[in-house]
Amino acid sequence: MVAGNLKMHGSHTQIETLLEAIRQEAQALSSVDIVVLPSFVYLQQTQNILSNPIVEWGAQNLYLGISEAFTGEESGAMLVDFGCQYVLVGHSESRHVFNEDLALVAAKFKAAIDAKLQPILCLGETLEERKQGETKKIISQQLESVIQAAEIKAFRHAVIAYEPIWAIDAGSTATPEEAQDVHAIIRKWLGQYDSAIANTMRILYGGRVEADNAADLFRMADIDGVLVGGEWLEAKSFLAICQAAC
Ligand code: PGA
Repeated sequence: MVAGNLKMHGSHTQIETLLEAIRQEAQALSSVDIVVLPSFVYLQQTQNILSNPIVEWGAQNLYLGISEAFTGEESGAMLVDFGCQYVLVGHSESRHVFNEDLALVAAKFKAAIDAKLQPILCLGETLEERKQGETKKIISQQLESVIQAAEIKAFRHAVIAYEPIWAIDAGSTATPEEAQDVHAIIRKWLGQYDSAIANTMRILYGGRVEADNAADLFRMADIDGVLVGGEWLEAKSFLAICQAAC
């Protein structure tokens, strides 16, 4: 899977150019599950352009409940209304910039499942935590809080993305081996609960994935795809990453 997180980037015109390019190339990349995650405001446009089952789309966040007095928020049902199949949950920018805690991330994961969306659950440690040797502790806390709230069987309909915070939008990226080590921890942790879910779980890596390092990441045993941020504003780079996944 190659998923593109557009964050708070893009304009009507840019989205059209990007999605048209992806749509045209998608046929030749049918061995890759391509997912695009634009801002909420471009979901209608995305649905119009990608009326092509080869490319799926989703949103970058959601809130709890169905029809509530939560000004400025979007429910899972609303995302489904716009053809979304996926939604990011617990992205590091949501956790760290907008202070989403473990309980809220777990509740959002459950809300996504209840709405029949596939959550892409993001996990990741800060540089400080990594330096202190706490990577496993942080990742397992983030994962465990969701397992406890949503139950392991919900993970049949989920994707996990390991995104070390020190590698997102940053100058350094994890080596394929560093990423692989954490992906193996995640799979092993899931395996304590359900080996079938652990074995089939798609675990993506995110954090400065580019056309140049994508192929090496895809070669690792437990890396099943990538979550790409900044790079994919350029359709050419995003498509090169998809190509590396073939
Ligand atoms: P990046 O972001 O590829 O720009 O590092 C990835 C992400 O935040 O999902």
